Amino acid sequence: MATHVVYYAALSLDGRIAGPDHDLGFLKTLTGAENDYEIFFADIDSLLMGAQTWTFMVRHGSWPYGEKPTWVVTHAPQLAPLDGAVVEPFAGDLTELVRLIGERGLKRTWLVGGGDLTGQLLAADLIDELILTMAPTFVGRGPALADGDFPLRRFTLGETGRFGDDGVRLRYERAREL
Ligand SMILES: NC(=O)c1ccc[n+]([C@@H]2O[C@H](COP(=O)([O-])OP(=O)(O)OC[C@H]3O[C@@H](n4cnc5c(N)ncnc54)[C@H](OP(=O)(O)O)[C@@H]3O)[C@@H](O)[C@H]2O)c1
Repeated sequence: MATHVVYYAALSLDGRIAGPDHDLGFLKTLTGAENDYEIFFADIDSLLMGAQTWTFMVRHGSWPYGEKPTWVVTHAPQLAPLDGAVVEPFAGDLTELVRLIGERGLKRTWLVGGGDLTGQLLAADLIDELILTMAPTFVGRGPALADGDFPLRRFTLGETGRFGDDGVRLRYERAREL
């Protein structure tokens, strides 16, 4: 059985997940919130990310996700090493990848990003849930929450709420029957 894929990400008011050169400075505008990331992280058993997001992690030089199995979608035959990461490169059919993760007994996978991989997962209709935190600022140029070509995918709204001083938290589930 395929794993449940949840895209948990922060975005700006104009739908960017970073500025140029991986700049995550916009996240500083998310003030006054109790960080509930640990609760989310405790509930996932695996991670999935695109090559550019991995590159950002490598440049950052630390791996905060422990030994949870991680797949990096990349055309590169090998990944740059990062201490502590339990990571496998993958290239190919993303439907196969989501099935493969499920066959390993993993049930809830965090799609870390970025927008390019997310667009492909939307095209293949492989995203089951969204947990989005919107920061109260614009970024301008930078990767979008989802990029590329994909059909409209409708999600049903679960929770909405204020996040800290001026942010918004949204939770959606994929409405495949609609
Ligand atoms: N705000 C947030 O919560 C958040 C979360 C995650 C990421 N980010 C930011 O988002 C940015 C990265 O996003 P992005 O959209 O530029 O890139 P991305 O989705 O992380 O990675 C895209 C790359 O993955 C590889 N790839 C994608 N699909 C593939 C496939 N089917 N088969 C093989 N390889 C494939 C390709 O690289 P190759 O061809 O080179 O292998 C492609 O250029 C970074 O700045 C990161 O910091 C922000």
